[in-house]
Formats: sequence, structure tokens, C-alpha cells
Amino acid sequence: RPLEINIDLPAEEAAQRLKIGLYFATWWALNVVFNIYNKKVLNAFPYPWLTSTLSLAAGSLMMLISWATRVAHVPKVNLDFWKALFPVAVAHTIGHVAATVSMSKVAVSFTHIIKSGEPAFSVLVSRFLLGEAFPMPVYLSLLPIIGGCALAAVTELNFNMIGFMGAMISNLAFVFRNIFSKKGMKGMAVSGMNYYACLSMMSLLILTPFAIAVEGPKVWAAGWQTAVSQIGPNFVWWVAAQSVFYHLYNQVSYMSLDQISPLTFSIGNTMKRISVIVSSILIFHTPVQPINALGAAIAILGTFLYSQVHSRLLLNSLCFFYILENPM
Ligand code: 3PG
Repeated sequence: RPLEINIDLPAEEAAQRLKIGLYFATWWALNVVFNIYNKKVLNAFPYPWLTSTLSLAAGSLMMLISWATRVAHVPKVNLDFWKALFPVAVAHTIGHVAATVSMSKVAVSFTHIIKSGEPAFSVLVSRFLLGEAFPMPVYLSLLPIIGGCALAAVTELNFNMIGFMGAMISNLAFVFRNIFSKKGMKGMAVSGMNYYACLSMMSLLILTPFAIAVEGPKVWAAGWQTAVSQIGPNFVWWVAAQSVFYHLYNQVSYMSLDQISPLTFSIGNTMKRISVIVSSILIFHTPVQPINALGAAIAILGTFLYSQVHSRLLLNSLCFFYILENPM
């Protein structure tokens, strides 16, 4: 076959890179806004089960309107799709509510430092529950993640056990969410945006009865009155902002997942945490000791190391299979 040289490739590649860059920048910006409003709301109205439910409700409503008005393409999904989505939605619900409970008890930055340890959970779950073995460099790359998170936790000035455990449970739940979604979504033709819309709707149905049981309308009504009397009528806009921005950042992240590998996604997610940690420390004037910041920096550096080791291994195995399939 004659050698084909595609001279459009660099331009196409540049356009694709620009597109991914825009997705990432939008994702991080939306996430920062969500985290700020979420914490402002939780400071005045400490009912994380309701605020988590409202975020899912806002997203579900926005997507139902987008489908009804044909702004977004209505997905064609069957019963098998919903069955495969169920375990993903359970894990998403647990991870979401646990992170919000955490942020209601500790500084946003602390929740996100602990959440930067997610890769460690991913490797440990794959190793001990799924029996998947990894080469030594992967395990070694977990040491700074675990050590850095531990250092940040023990030196945290406003440590709270519920806040810490909430972030840890969220990490565990999101690892399962990723495992289930990889298993369940194979071969299903649904866009990232619609996949996340369906996930929100199912999570909303799962979470609502639990939110009523754990907190309930009586405490919500009393808490709402207190918050409005303290903050004023603007409080309702804070709640609307945290709910809408929660959906938007997740939607953009799922849309970018359509374009990139899970690995690039996890690097993007770690960088997102850096922007959230820094901006929330500045906005909320969170007290940080140098040793505490060192722990956070080690943990985040460890996450980068892990991504590098993992990507190299992935590349090596891809080359191995390529050579097997294309012997010289
Ligand atoms: C949530 O409320 O679901 C968490 O804040 C999400 O955390 P993450 O998307 O940053 O992992």
C-alpha cells in the first residue's frame, strides 16, 4: 500500500488539543464555583443530605427540559441500560453524599486533599477485591499518596472524624463507580452528557428517601428560616448556584471523558483538586500550617507519579500487543 501522509493531521491534532484544553478549563472553573457555593450554603445551612439531593434534582430537571425542548438529543435506552446503571448510581449517590457530608464538617481544602488519594483506593480495591496484580512501581507510587494524605490529616488544624471518613468513603465509592461504569457501559451508544443525565436521575431516586429519613422536612424548614434570616434573600441563589454548578461541572467532565483516556481524565481531576484547594484556602481564609501544606503537596505529587507510572505501563502493554499482532 502506498504511504499515505495526512498533511491535515497537525492542524486536526491542534484543534483536538484546544478542544480538550477548553473542556478541562471549563470543568475546573465550574468545579471551583460549585465548591465555593456549596461550602457557603453548608456554613449557613448544615444539611448535606438535602443539598446533595438538590444538586441531583437540578441536574435532572435541566436535562429533562433539554430533552423536551430538543436542545439535547434524547437517548435511546432500554431496560438493560438502566440495570447496568443501577450499581453505578448507587456508588455515585454514596460518593456524592459522603463528600458533601465531609465538606459540611471540615474545610473544602481538607476534603479535596483526602480525595486526591483516590488512586490509592483504586489500586487497593483492584488488588484485594478483584485480585488484579500490579508491578512494584505502582505500589511504590502509592507511598507518597498515602503518606502525604496521612501527614495532611494529622496536621489539620480543624480535623473532624466525620469529615475525614466522609472523604474516605467518597473515595471508595467513586472507585466502585468507575469499576461498575466501565463494566456496564461497554457497547452502549450513549453520549457522556446523556449518560451523566441518566445517572443523576437514578441517583436522585435513590437518595431522596434516605435524605428524608436522615434529615427530613422539619429540620430543613427550621434550618432554611435561620439561613434566610442570617444571609437574606440571596441565600436561595447560593443554593441554586451550588445545585446548577454541580450538574454543569459533572456534565462537562463526562463530556470530556468521551474525548480522552481514563488516565488523562484522572490527571485532569488531580489538577482540578489543586485549583479547588488553592482557591478555597484563599476565599475562606482557611488556616494552613507549612507542615500541613507539605502533606498536601506530597499527596498530589504522588498522584502525578502514579499517573506517570500507570501510563508508562499501559503504553508498554499496548506496544507488546502491537508487536504480537504485527510481527516483523
Ligand atoms: C460531590 O459532591 O460529589 C463531590 O464534591 C464530588 O467530588 P469530585 O467530583 O471532585 O470527585
